[in-house]
Amino acid sequence: MKPLSTDQIRQAYLDFFQQKRHTVIPGASLIPENDPTVLFTTAGMHPLVPYLLGEKHPGGRRLCDVQRCIRTQDIDEVGDSSHLTMFEMLGNWSLGGYFKEEAISMSFEFLTKILGIPVKMLAVTCFEGDSDAPRDEESAEIWKKMGILENRIGFLPKAKNWWGPAGKTGPCGPDTEMFYWIGEGEPQGTPATHDREWLEIWNDVFMQYNKKEDGTFEPLKQQNVDTGMGLERVAAVLQGVANVYETDRMKPILDHVLRLSPREHMLGNHEMESGIIRHARIVVDHLKAASFIIGDGIVPSNVDQGYVLRRLIRRAIRSARQLQIEASGTFTPAVADIVIEQYAAAYPLLFARNKTIRDALAHEERQFGRTLSEGLKQFERVAAGASSMIAGVDAFHLYDTYGFPLELTVELAGERRLRVDQEGFASAFEAHQKLSRAGSEKRFAGGLADHSAETTKLHTATHLLNAALRKVLGNHVWQKGSNITAERLRFDFTHESKMTPEQIQQVEDLVNWAIQKDFPVSYHLSTVDGAKEEGAIGVFDDRYGSDVKVYVMGDREITFSKEICGGPHVARTGMLGSFKLQKEESSSAGIRRIKAVVIGGAKEIEVAGEGW
Ligand code: ALA
Repeated sequence: MKPLSTDQIRQAYLDFFQQKRHTVIPGASLIPENDPTVLFTTAGMHPLVPYLLGEKHPGGRRLCDVQRCIRTQDIDEVGDSSHLTMFEMLGNWSLGGYFKEEAISMSFEFLTKILGIPVKMLAVTCFEGDSDAPRDEESAEIWKKMGILENRIGFLPKAKNWWGPAGKTGPCGPDTEMFYWIGEGEPQGTPATHDREWLEIWNDVFMQYNKKEDGTFEPLKQQNVDTGMGLERVAAVLQGVANVYETDRMKPILDHVLRLSPREHMLGNHEMESGIIRHARIVVDHLKAASFIIGDGIVPSNVDQGYVLRRLIRRAIRSARQLQIEASGTFTPAVADIVIEQYAAAYPLLFARNKTIRDALAHEERQFGRTLSEGLKQFERVAAGASSMIAGVDAFHLYDTYGFPLELTVELAGERRLRVDQEGFASAFEAHQKLSRAGSEKRFAGGLADHSAETTKLHTATHLLNAALRKVLGNHVWQKGSNITAERLRFDFTHESKMTPEQIQQVEDLVNWAIQKDFPVSYHLSTVDGAKEEGAIGVFDDRYGSDVKVYVMGDREITFSKEICGGPHVARTGMLGSFKLQKEESSSAGIRRIKAVVIGGAKEIEVAGEGW
């Protein structure tokens, strides 16, 4: 039997809940009405907040719909197998009507009877309980009655099994989540024990609380149910494909983007493949989200939704450049054409606004191209007027107006023996952030430079980790990706097998040893070839142009780490405090991923300068 298509799943869901006496309501715009606390509609419940709080809905107490949603906080994960900036959520609601028993039994029936998913491929989680709300034994008991085995039911704390509010305040509550086994071989454990091997596909939230401004929870007037199923994930599962980009509606867009790239023929090449695929997925994801956002009436700008939209389009263009997609003219409108072709039946609005969408994309793409070259001219002017330091406001102006990442300005300045006032940049940046309602940049942190003390320390720790991995595992270790937030570093590298506990310990010890040695950190300027010759490691691409900075961490006797990098770094390794490796896991074939933190280092840091 042919697996259900995306369109069929959507329809089957609405039909099923209609038959269970739910009113089918239209999905809302991606742009929330009357809600200043968020920029985008992030869940199906979002437009229903007043009704969850007790207002009467014209459709009655039982509703269902398909809601397009945007979640920019997942932007860093985009390009993996299951995260999307924009996705479709299938949802059903009880507004003070049915509660746990009926909600869970309908979810179970839809998954196993309508979609035909074998029970053994499913696992669920329930809320473990805390001072705000009790452990949800009730849901677990209902699942058992349905036929979910006890060893497939996990209990997790609020961080995992509690949903909402969508903004700062509003309805929320404990939830029970449903997962599909995507691991190797027979299903094992629960999402509480085998996190990566169980893919979340649906979430039933029991909305009994209202979170208030002061952070406390008060019981709601009515007990609600709010559910959300990820359409693209369910389609991937049913269609037997490994990721959402291979599903029937997404694949034609991905294929189109890959065809545009002269690097497509490298797809069989193990070394290159994951990078190419990732960038292609980012182009697909971002331009699809951008098309829908424009369809909902937004144009690129420097504030709020328009700013997120602009960043999405520009990030897509950067990834396209990595794929060497050279469009004479523009390439984004043609990608939008395929998006519209795939989704117009479900979203006629896309078709109606197809010209607006194409025009807005083409305009932004052309402007971004011009902006980059104008930015170079502006940089020359600023550099000519600077004696030793480029002011933070100038660097910010380059960033904000010309789309120059701070790293680029620092690099260009370095070539002219100029420094950049990075603290000044950070304060100019902060001032701008305040202007943007709800901090759209924060939600979009993945695309923005953050040079706080914490991220600088983690950046230096990343170099020590890279060096330690090569010393412990061997010189086949190469960086494949790095991502730093204020809380942690994430580092992807080439290595075939899982690290042993001993290797993990050795790496951690070695990094801590280098921290205790309190090595000085400095950089010197070189060329890519010169850096290679002196044995520097690093990403040897044209990201920084032909002139590069080489950061050295070590003393007269020991060079612990030598790496090409844009910086910034702390001036001495001792500022890091101590290093803790928290997680080692697979990222993709032949690539491992480490998450790590630094604890208790210097509160105020000094930034590493030029050495010799
Ligand atoms: N609102 C719930 C979610 O987004 C269903 O997961």
